[in-house]
Amino acid sequence: MNLKQMVGIEAAKYVKDGMTVGLGTGSTAYFMVEEIGRRVKEENLNIVGVTTSKATEKQALSLGIPLKSIDEVDFVDLTIDGADEISEDYQGTKGGGAALLFEKIVATYSKEVIWIVDESKMVKHLGAFPLPVEVIPYGSDQLLRKFTAKELNPKIRLTEDGNPLLTDSKNYIIDLYLEDISAPQELAVWLDHQVGVVEHGLFLDMVTRVIIGTSTEGVKTIN
Ligand code: A5P
Repeated sequence: MNLKQMVGIEAAKYVKDGMTVGLGTGSTAYFMVEEIGRRVKEENLNIVGVTTSKATEKQALSLGIPLKSIDEVDFVDLTIDGADEISEDYQGTKGGGAALLFEKIVATYSKEVIWIVDESKMVKHLGAFPLPVEVIPYGSDQLLRKFTAKELNPKIRLTEDGNPLLTDSKNYIIDLYLEDISAPQELAVWLDHQVGVVEHGLFLDMVTRVIIGTSTEGVKTIN
């Protein structure tokens, strides 16, 4: 079993009957969704899922997990999702899979948020992984110029055929190649104030539990 599968299965243990569960996106969250699907089928686990992307919605539906949209529930009991980087003080970046907008909305309305990662995602400071910023296509070149002027090293994310990648909400992603994010709060506030920015991948003060897959010590849980 690989590390992503180990943490996915471990996280699914926190899902209890009657819960509304936020289902994250990505190659690690994939294993958690598979395990929840197995429990729904084999253990008659009774839950409602709220998905964070079209990809996860498709997977959850194929597994027979009952779903509602975020607007049909009062709140989410627990969201389980992957992350691109988690710093020593448990701040995170997300959006490598371009699903950051729905991921952040679902996490915002969740009582508990668990991140599942392999040990390679645990870092001293955030920033080696490019920080995604979801932007409205209209005016996105202006934003690129603004980010360049602020030395944020931006690049529009492209698909294999060279066109800008479109998110589930039909927006673009600008990745910021920062190397080191020395002041995440400050950068988050600045990005929040830029017209045309829909959301960014800094997930600050959001996580309540981190489950890490390690090759030497197995699964480690930090509460
Ligand atoms: C999706 O947009 C992301 O936020 C993912 O949750 C994150 O990129 C982690 O993905 P992996 O588990 O595939 O590394």
